[in-house]
Amino acid sequence: MVKIGNIELPEFPLLLAPMEDVSDPPFRRLCKTHGADLMFSEFISSEGLIRDAIKSRQKLDIFDYERPVGIQIFGGDEEAMAMSSKIVSAVNPDLIDINFGCPVKKVVCKGAGAAVLKDVDLMVRLTKAVIDGTNLPVTVKTRLGWDDDSINIDEVAERLQDIGVKALSIHGRTRAQLYKGEADWSHIARVKNNPRITMPIFGNGDVDSPEKALEYKNRYGVDGIMIGRAAIGYPWIFNEIKHYFKTGEKLSAPTMQDRIEAARNHLTWAMEWKGEWVGIVETRRHYTNYFKGIHNFKEYRQKLVTIDNAQGLYAAFDEISQAFADYQFVS
Ligand SMILES: Cc1cc2nc3c(=O)[nH]c(=O)nc-3n(C[C@H](O)[C@H](O)[C@H](O)COP(=O)(O)O)c2cc1C
Repeated sequence: MVKIGNIELPEFPLLLAPMEDVSDPPFRRLCKTHGADLMFSEFISSEGLIRDAIKSRQKLDIFDYERPVGIQIFGGDEEAMAMSSKIVSAVNPDLIDINFGCPVKKVVCKGAGAAVLKDVDLMVRLTKAVIDGTNLPVTVKTRLGWDDDSINIDEVAERLQDIGVKALSIHGRTRAQLYKGEADWSHIARVKNNPRITMPIFGNGDVDSPEKALEYKNRYGVDGIMIGRAAIGYPWIFNEIKHYFKTGEKLSAPTMQDRIEAARNHLTWAMEWKGEWVGIVETRRHYTNYFKGIHNFKEYRQKLVTIDNAQGLYAAFDEISQAFADYQFVS
């Protein structure tokens, strides 16, 4: 069993990575249904939370069925982080996660996200401000360092643990790398094997199949794996990995009916959350992912992204279901 504060996770948990514009409540619900053990909100700007920016506030929505769930915040100002810690605690997530790894320019330029990677003292102060503002467990997600010449994850892990961080998720790339090259998990393994480190260490970066998950689990010895991009349009990845760990066999690929059901549920849950119109519009960008690589699907995709009422969309799903009843996927 893996523990984060007093949150108990199963042996070798699979985490859904925080992803802006992706890991919202309907998407998280799908991932939960298909085996994610711990999930995170999209990142939320601490400055935005304080200003009461509507977009930031909506990202605070969490539901009991998705627990355990963490809310992720970022920021470069201690006071804003301390206040955000209190605001986030009031909505009662299971934990608060801090993002120190975001390479997005608008975040880095504000002194937040991965910019903090250059300044470990600041990172520690910002984290301390969050810890002091809450009774919830605080975790951190970060990258290896700023660039290849300044990989400082070993020091970062020790100092964060010393001030009370309860788990660390490490994306095996530097900020300078953005998403290029391959994630280098050897640095993550070194942190995990540091005898001073007792908090759980979760590895992140490029895991996109049960085989790779097993290989990385065995080779790098981490406490669990965090999955981001591979879950987009493919929430089945979590149970596929778990099944493979248990049996050494691969589950057959989701059928067309499974994909339709996922897309339909995504739409339904988005509408329940944000109302019919916003739910319809916000789900549009996901259809391409659920129906990726399907031959002769263009006409239906076009329908799904233009129909503007729920009844019409459900009818389109029925039509797709009939038209592709015999469609075969290869796993
Ligand atoms: C669309 C997208 C949005 C992301 N948003 C966030 C975010 O809000 N917070 C964060 O810590 N990381 C964010 N990331 C990084 C992911 O959490 C993860 O670290 C990265 O994608 C590597 O994992 P993967 O190879 O499994 O995708 C984002 C990644 C993507 C692709």
